[in-house]
Amino acid sequence: MLLQQQKETRGRERTMEAKPEEKAEFEEAEIEYVSYGGEHHLPLIMNLVDQELSEPYSIFTYRYFVYLWPQLSFLQAFHKGKCVGTVVCKMGEHRNTFRGYIAMLVVIKPYRGRGIATELVTRSIRMMMESGCEEVTLEAEVTNKGALALYGRLGFIRAKRLFHYYLNGVDAFRLKLLFPPPRQVL
Ligand SMILES: CC(C)(COP(=O)(O)OP(=O)(O)OC[C@H]1O[C@@H](n2cnc3c(N)ncnc32)[C@H](O)[C@@H]1OP(=O)(O)O)[C@@H](O)C(=O)NCCC(=O)NCCS
Repeated sequence: MLLQQQKETRGRERTMEAKPEEKAEFEEAEIEYVSYGGEHHLPLIMNLVDQELSEPYSIFTYRYFVYLWPQLSFLQAFHKGKCVGTVVCKMGEHRNTFRGYIAMLVVIKPYRGRGIATELVTRSIRMMMESGCEEVTLEAEVTNKGALALYGRLGFIRAKRLFHYYLNGVDAFRLKLLFPPPRQVL
């Protein structure tokens, strides 16, 4: 299927699935944060991302992250066995900088506004710092107020505007979090 057709089909599915927003009842302590645990996690993550992000990703993209950065940066939030949120990241050399990158972040609607995304992102950033990253970057749609507010609160700055970055034609902000330089050893 062509990409455009895929996107239209997904858009229709999203609209059909849209239900009045219901808030889930839960205690924060009931949310379990786990690293990627194997292929059985893959459909859960793909389902969340497919439902909530405009950009379509193939299974190869997911596997790229899973196989190269399995336990380090692929985190999910579970509530009573149900996957309610995920963050997908990577890290590596970029122009002489060791850089972390947040590729996807999703929390399903009934669980939003309770700090789950903040916790997923914070845990990923902590792992990136511990692994020697000097900065973390990501892209977010300029219209995505929720994500921009969340990352702004965590200290990310808007480094660049990328015109028509997404397949849907929307611009992106490249967001960047710079870690304090390591203490000089004299
Ligand atoms: C963005 C998203 C991951 C936030 O998940 P969440 O679990 O609700 O986030 P948190 O509860 O940790 O919220 C943290 C902060 O983000 C901001 N925020 C989150 N959702 C918001 C919204 N819809 N509108 C405005 N601000 C929002 C607020 O500043 C909030 O702080 P608060 O404690 O003052 O309310 C979630 O809305 C989502 O999955 N959206 C669809 C996918 C998406 O856009 N992903 C990001 C791609 S870059």
